[in-house]
Amino acid sequence: MAHEIPSTTFKIVDILNDCKLHTGTNIAETLGISRTAVWKVVQRLKQYNIHIESQHQGYYFNSPLLLIDKKRIKNSLKDPRITLEIFESIPSTCDYLKKKASLKNLNFCFAEHQSKGRGRLGRSWISPFGKNIYCSFSYTFNKDISEMSGLSLVIGILVARALESLNPILKPLLKWPNDIYIDDQKGGGILIDLIAEAHGNCTAIISIGLNVNMKDVKLEGIDQPWTSLEHILNEKIDRNVVITQMLKSILKGMEVFQWEGIEPFLSEWKQYDLLKDEKISLNTGTEVISGIAKGISPQGHLLLELPSGKIEKFSYGDTTLFLKGIRCP
Ligand code: BTN
Repeated sequence: MAHEIPSTTFKIVDILNDCKLHTGTNIAETLGISRTAVWKVVQRLKQYNIHIESQHQGYYFNSPLLLIDKKRIKNSLKDPRITLEIFESIPSTCDYLKKKASLKNLNFCFAEHQSKGRGRLGRSWISPFGKNIYCSFSYTFNKDISEMSGLSLVIGILVARALESLNPILKPLLKWPNDIYIDDQKGGGILIDLIAEAHGNCTAIISIGLNVNMKDVKLEGIDQPWTSLEHILNEKIDRNVVITQMLKSILKGMEVFQWEGIEPFLSEWKQYDLLKDEKISLNTGTEVISGIAKGISPQGHLLLELPSGKIEKFSYGDTTLFLKGIRCP
C-alpha cells in the first residue's frame, strides 16, 4: 500500500542532515524510539539507494536529503483550494489519480519514488527516490475534449515560467508537444490523460516529471541525453522551493486556460519554442515526416513546412531534432 513518509523518517533524516556521525542510540534517545526503529528506517532508506555511511554503530549522510515537505509547501502557498498527497513510493502518480474515485480539482499528488513511472508513448520514466519531482494533479475543465489540445503546451509554459523565476540561469525551452529542455537536453516532461465527462466537461490528469537533483548518476533505461537543475546550477536544490514556485504558476495559469484557452499563451510559446525553424522529423505513429518547424497554430498544433514548401498542421506526434549533432527524441 502506498503511504506518506512516516514522521519518524522525517525526524531521523532531519538529524542526519547535518552530515555528522550520529549513533543509533543517540538518535533513538533523542526521538524516544527504539534503536531497532532507527535501524529499520536507515535500512529502508538504503533500499532506495540513499547513501548512508555506517561507522562505529552510527550513521551519517555525505550530503543532506531534503524530503518533500507538505506543511512547508502548504504554508507557502496558502491556497485552500489545493489538496496535497505526498507518497513515499507509488507505482505512478498519474495512475494513482486515474484510479482514484471522486477527484477534486487541484488534487495534487507527489511521490518521492515511483516504481512504474511512465512517460509518453509507453516509455518508462526513471524515478529514483528523493531526487526529482514526480507530480500529478487533476482538473475538470468546462470544455469539450476537442478543446484540450493546447493543455500540455500551456503546462510547459507554466513550468518554464516557474523555472525562470527560480533562477534566470535556467533558460528552459519547450519541445512540442511536451518536453522541457534546459541547455539543449531533456530536463522534464509532461503527460496528459484526458477523461471525457458528462455535460461536455473534461477531466485532465496532468503530470509533470522534472529532473532536479540528478547529477553524476548512471541511470539505465534512459535512452536520450538528460539534464537536471542541479547539473545546470551546480548545487543541490531544495525541491520544496521548486514545487512551491511551480504550483503558484500552475494555479494562476489553470484559471486562464479554463476561461480563455490557449490563446493568451500563444505569443509566449514563441519565446520557449525549441523547434522554431529547426529541421525536425515528426513521428505520427503511422509515418515519419521531415520538415522545418514553423511554430504552432492558434489551436496549439505543430506547423511543419514540408520539402514542397507547403505548411501542414499536426495535432499529435513525437518530434525529433538534432542538437549539437546529438539526436534528441
Ligand atoms: C514524458 O516526457 O514522456 C512525460 C513524462 C511524465 C513523467 C511524470 S512523473 C509523474 C507522473 N507519473 C508518471 O508515471 N509519469 C508522470
